[in-house]
Amino acid sequence: MLPNPYAPGEPPRVLAGRELQQDRIRGYLGRIGTYGEMGGPLLVFLGPRGVGKTSLLRDAQRDAEAHGFITAWVACRRNAPFLPDLVSRVGKAIETADFLPRSDRGSWRLRLDSIGVEFGLSSVVKVSATAAADRSDPRAHQRGAQISALEDLLHETGAQIRSRGGAGLVVFVDELHAATRDDSAVLLNTMQNLAGRREDNPFAVIGAGLPSTPGVLVNAATFGERSTFLTLPRLEPAAAAAAVAEPAAELGVTWTTAALQVVAAEAQGFPYLLQVLAHATWEAARPSALGDVLDIDQVHAGLPLADDQLTSMYAARWAAATELERQIMAVMAQAGTPTVTRAEIAAQLGRPTQALGVPRERLIDKGIIEPAGRGEVRFTMPGFDRYIREAVAVGASSEPEQASRRLGAGRRRRELPPASDTDRGSPRR
Ligand SMILES: Nc1ncnc2c1ncn2[C@@H]1O[C@H](COP(=O)(O)OP(=O)(O)OP(=O)(O)O)[C@@H](O)[C@H]1O
Ligand SMILES: [Mg+2]
Repeated sequence: MLPNPYAPGEPPRVLAGRELQQDRIRGYLGRIGTYGEMGGPLLVFLGPRGVGKTSLLRDAQRDAEAHGFITAWVACRRNAPFLPDLVSRVGKAIETADFLPRSDRGSWRLRLDSIGVEFGLSSVVKVSATAAADRSDPRAHQRGAQISALEDLLHETGAQIRSRGGAGLVVFVDELHAATRDDSAVLLNTMQNLAGRREDNPFAVIGAGLPSTPGVLVNAATFGERSTFLTLPRLEPAAAAAAVAEPAAELGVTWTTAALQVVAAEAQGFPYLLQVLAHATWEAARPSALGDVLDIDQVHAGLPLADDQLTSMYAARWAAATELERQIMAVMAQAGTPTVTRAEIAAQLGRPTQALGVPRERLIDKGIIEPAGRGEVRFTMPGFDRYIREAVAVGASSEPEQASRRLGAGRRRRELPPASDTDRGSPRR
């Protein structure tokens, strides 16, 4: 049997349809590589859950390393600082890259330790760790100390890498919407300061986060708005087909055109859904040899598995929503149209539009719904509306599990086109 080449929830084997973004990142890093100067302000990719932010960043990381960059990766978590992680990852990256001659390693380690202390990392050199406690405004002092420590770290690391023939340093920060305000402020101030001497600072920071990220950064430092924000769209039809077909083709397995169309129609360009559906189809078909073909029947056979996977995710989202958020989502789902206006939601719930501002923004922040043109919103992930219709139908605010089973059944009965004769892709013949 051939291994399943699809990766729901993990970076894909084939990153399809992201040429624009990849070019953009290469251009950004190219300046560091060529001139040894800072890439520019923070570059941040935005998008809802499952649209492919982490996958793009992982791809960029691999590409950067192939072009001589040293990279470090951190992911932010709510209510937890990410800078300690960032500092230790940068330090580790240098060590793993095996850049430094043995004679310099000891002093570099000590240098890293003294920088790390400012971020609460334990150290063999216990320098000013307690000094901050004596100041009248310990927080302000701590922030100042962290900014200058981070400046030193990024500057010195970039310079070290550069002086030994490397291209520079790239730091990737995923889940940036979850960054604490203090840490975001330190990172932004550091970058601002280093930009003043851009020619001495061969490094860049590339981030990704939910659409709420710009607000988080501006809230931390007003000039956070000068970061470059790029929204990651869903995949175009050709890219969606490639995302499904190419990993199979690498193993000598072919999808029929009709099967690809069904998967593409279901997923609507949403990368996570493409992976889930393709993965489930493969599991159902279990192709074992070069030349095997995946047809529409196999897509159908895989649907129960795909549904299980999706409904548990939808159920988790529904369970995590507040009552008012659920009411908004229920109105949107019941509308049955691709987008819904804010006024329509307000009218349905019998409330003034402004009264729904907070829960609506929170749904947008969580990446569950997104603005779609003037005064309109839509669900970010196709299929969630269907789940909600079922969940609400069985009164499942308390029992999403039961709802999900009904959804699976309903969906298989109603939603997919039948395997008609024309659907039975000719490539098999
Ligand atoms: N360009 C692409 N081509 C093919 N598959 C992709 C692509 N981008 C993402 N995927 C797939 O989509 C799924 C979601 O991707 P990823 O985890 O990168 O999304 P995300 O935006 O980081 O989501 P989250 O906000 O939940 O972290 C994964 O299964 C991944 O394999
Ligand atoms: Mg991610």
